[in-house]
Amino acid sequence: MEDNSLASTTKEGDGELSNISLRPMDLSDVDDFMVWASDDKVTHFCSYGPYTSREQGIKHIENKVIPHPWFMAICVNNRAIGAISVSANQGNDKCRGEIGYVLGSKYWGKGIATRAVKMASDAIFAEWPHLERLEALVDVENVGSQKVLLKAGFMQEGVLRKYFIHKDPALWKPHSGPSISPNPNLIYSIRNHNLKHTIDYRQSSRSHGIPFVTFPDRKPVFDYLIGKNDSYN
Ligand SMILES: CC(C)(COP(=O)(O)OP(=O)(O)OC[C@H]1O[C@@H](n2cnc3c(N)ncnc32)[C@H](O)[C@@H]1OP(=O)(O)O)[C@@H](O)C(=O)NCCC(=O)NCCS
Repeated sequence: MEDNSLASTTKEGDGELSNISLRPMDLSDVDDFMVWASDDKVTHFCSYGPYTSREQGIKHIENKVIPHPWFMAICVNNRAIGAISVSANQGNDKCRGEIGYVLGSKYWGKGIATRAVKMASDAIFAEWPHLERLEALVDVENVGSQKVLLKAGFMQEGVLRKYFIHKDPALWKPHSGPSISPNPNLIYSIRNHNLKHTIDYRQSSRSHGIPFVTFPDRKPVFDYLIGKNDSYN
């Protein structure tokens, strides 16, 4: 059988951080999946949950995880403690994918998500050479996730307001029904560092007469996009 697992090569720290691996998730992970999927502290910013029954967990793995093009369990000693995925796009949107991740609350604050995001970014750019950029959407209140992305080399690009439906009604029936995400989301991205060619934005901007804007050192451009007195909403 093909081994699709990815092991961390980090020399940082000891214990859990040096034992992180990513591998495809399947139905045998359902009990470990339920540890975080039933925890509303964890699922607050997720598109699903909190789940209250093992059956919901099985249904989620069958319908959402197994058919997914790239969905990995984040493991310590091969035991699933979280998950990370990259969604694929088609046609003209094929150049980008969206990363999402979640970790059981017992493991928060140990650098595990940052490690997993770096591993997943390296792997996906190698596996999907057509991918030019990997992006992530993060609720403005999800400070931990924003830090993970910056530490993993992503750049903040902008603010998206009223961008998506918060929970999937087919899997989760919130008391008030599905609703547009109440908070704006920040969008982050990282470019495919494996690509040999780079676009000269200076040349293309000049030739079209568009004022020249630099994005130096991957500094967040957020401040340029939204003024200090502007409302997030
Ligand atoms: C967001 C999440 C993945 C972070 O995982 P994690 O393993 O704790 O993250 P890391 O340990 O790699 O932390 C990276 C940085 O963020 C900081 N951080 C983590 N959680 C934080 C929080 N709630 N508030 C402020 N900072 C936080 C860490 O201290 C660290 O910064 P430092 O190195 O300067 O100390 C985890 O909290 C989680 O699963 N949350 C629920 C699901 C979720 O929100 N997923 C992302 C959806 S976009």
